[in-house]
Amino acid sequence: MSASALLVTGASGQLGRRVLELLLDRKAGPLIATTRNPESLKEFAARGVEVRRADFDDEAGLVQAFRGAGRVLLISTDALDRPGRRIAQHRAAVRAAEAAGVKHVVYTSVPNPYPGSPVAVADDHRETEAALAASRLDFTILRNNLYLELQLQPLKSAIASGQLVDARGTGATAFVTREDCARAAAAALAEPATGRRTLDVTGPAAVTSDELAAITSELVGRKVVHVSVPPDALIQGMVEHGLPRPVAALLASFDAGTQKGDFSGVTDTVQRLTGRAPQSVRDFLASHRAALTGN
Ligand SMILES: NC(=O)c1ccc[n+]([C@@H]2O[C@H](COP(=O)([O-])OP(=O)(O)OC[C@H]3O[C@@H](n4cnc5c(N)ncnc54)[C@H](OP(=O)(O)O)[C@@H]3O)[C@@H](O)[C@H]2O)c1
Repeated sequence: MSASALLVTGASGQLGRRVLELLLDRKAGPLIATTRNPESLKEFAARGVEVRRADFDDEAGLVQAFRGAGRVLLISTDALDRPGRRIAQHRAAVRAAEAAGVKHVVYTSVPNPYPGSPVAVADDHRETEAALAASRLDFTILRNNLYLELQLQPLKSAIASGQLVDARGTGATAFVTREDCARAAAAALAEPATGRRTLDVTGPAAVTSDELAAITSELVGRKVVHVSVPPDALIQGMVEHGLPRPVAALLASFDAGTQKGDFSGVTDTVQRLTGRAPQSVRDFLASHRAALTGN
């Protein structure tokens, strides 16, 4: 495997799989995919991707897994079960990339990860960005806005009840599709850019929950109104619907960030990296009408 290989971590996840497909489509590579579960990527191995086992909890294994890669897409893990676990994983991955001779890391972060942010995941991302800055690596930090796909389930419930309940107030979010995040990540990995840059990856406009409810109403022909409640009431409501309290608190923390405007910035990053405009909320929801209504 040449040192020009492109490597994708967490490749069995939804973002990682899509990035691999896009890289195969553009005949980029050679390609390496790492995962805790190589069996899950059999179809990619059959298409010429070198699949390696790697666990972010095993730093020595990460060094071995990263050998021969010139550029690495470090997809943030979903290890939010214990405080401190994910940042330890990401720091290990940054050290492993340096030790393995990687030149450039593309990292999936979050918008505005400032100290004191109400967003529960902000600290992990800020610390990972700091680890990259303190390393010898070149990097592209992709601060992905909130995935639009994750609005489908709440909107489905909102259509059923007639109320979109959240704690966002009048805050707006520049929702972006996971697909556009994957396209941006594939481009940032495959292009030969050097140096260090931090880019916000957003949809084409920032949308309030009032607007989200109105677009949904119009598309499905049923009345949906937005109701903003205090964060504690939102958390309690989610717990009563069966969500574990820590998960409910994590979700509500994004609403607190939205109220502060942390997700409202709009950029042309998707257009510039991929040559194609990001999908709008209206277009995305229109193409998922069946998922929203169950018809
Ligand atoms: N912008 C947003 O709205 C948003 C929403 C949700 C999540 N995210 C972040 O974006 C990431 C990618 O999103 P997604 O939709 O692809 O999530 P996903 O489908 O849940 O995938 C999570 C990925 O994390 C990897 N991972 C977890 N623990 C790991 C470990 N110990 N070692 C190595 N890899 C580990 C998994 O890799 P393997 O199973 O292949 O090892 C998996 O591919 C998430 O992990 C999360 O950090 C962003």
